Amino acid sequence: MSEAISCTWRDPITDEEMVGLVQAHGGNATAGWWDRIKGHSLGWVGARAGDGLLVGFVNVAWDGGAHAFLLDTKTRSSHQHRGIGTAVVALAAANARAAGCEWLHVDFESRLRGFYYDACGFRPTDAGLIHLPTAK
Ligand SMILES: CC(C)(COP(=O)(O)OP(=O)(O)OC[C@H]1O[C@@H](n2cnc3c(N)ncnc32)[C@H](O)[C@@H]1OP(=O)(O)O)[C@@H](O)C(=O)NCCC(=O)NCCS
Repeated sequence: MSEAISCTWRDPITDEEMVGLVQAHGGNATAGWWDRIKGHSLGWVGARAGDGLLVGFVNVAWDGGAHAFLLDTKTRSSHQHRGIGTAVVALAAANARAAGCEWLHVDFESRLRGFYYDACGFRPTDAGLIHLPTAK
C-alpha cells in the first residue's frame, strides 16, 4: 500500500459510513443494515485512509466456538488493488484466532478465487448453500 492505510479490529464504523462504502464499490446500500448486523459479529475490520475515510471492511460472524465466518469483504473502488482487501482479511483472521476460533470459513463467486485462495490463503473445500426463501 503506498497511501498510509490503517486497519482496525472493531473499528467504530457508523451506519452512514457503511452506506457510503457499499455505494462506493457499486453495491446496493441499505440504511440501517450495519446497525442491525453488527451485534451478531465476533468483530469486524475497518480500513481507513489518512483522512479517516472508510476504504475497506470485512465482517466476522461466528458460532460462539471454533468456527468463524467471513462476510461482506469490500474495498472502495477508488482504492482497490492496493492490498487493502488482503489486509482486512488478514487482521480478521488474526483476531478470530486470538478469540479462540479454529476455522475461518468464506464463500464467494468463482471470479474471486484469486483473491481468497492466492492473496488471502484460503484453501478449497466442499460447501453447501440453500436459498431459504425460494427453497421447497
Ligand atoms: C474483492 C475485493 C474486496 C478485493 O479488494 P482489494 O482491496 O482490491 O484486494 P487486494 O488489493 O488485496 O487484492 C489482492 C489480489 O487479489 C486478487 N483480486 C482482487 N480483487 C479481485 C477481483 N475483484 N476479482 C478477481 N481477483 C481479485 C488480485 O489477484 C489482487 O492482486 P492485484 O491487485 O495484483 O491484481 C474488492 O474487489 C471488492 O470490494 N469487490 C466488490 C465487493 C465484493 O465482491 N466482495 C466480495 C464478497 S465475497
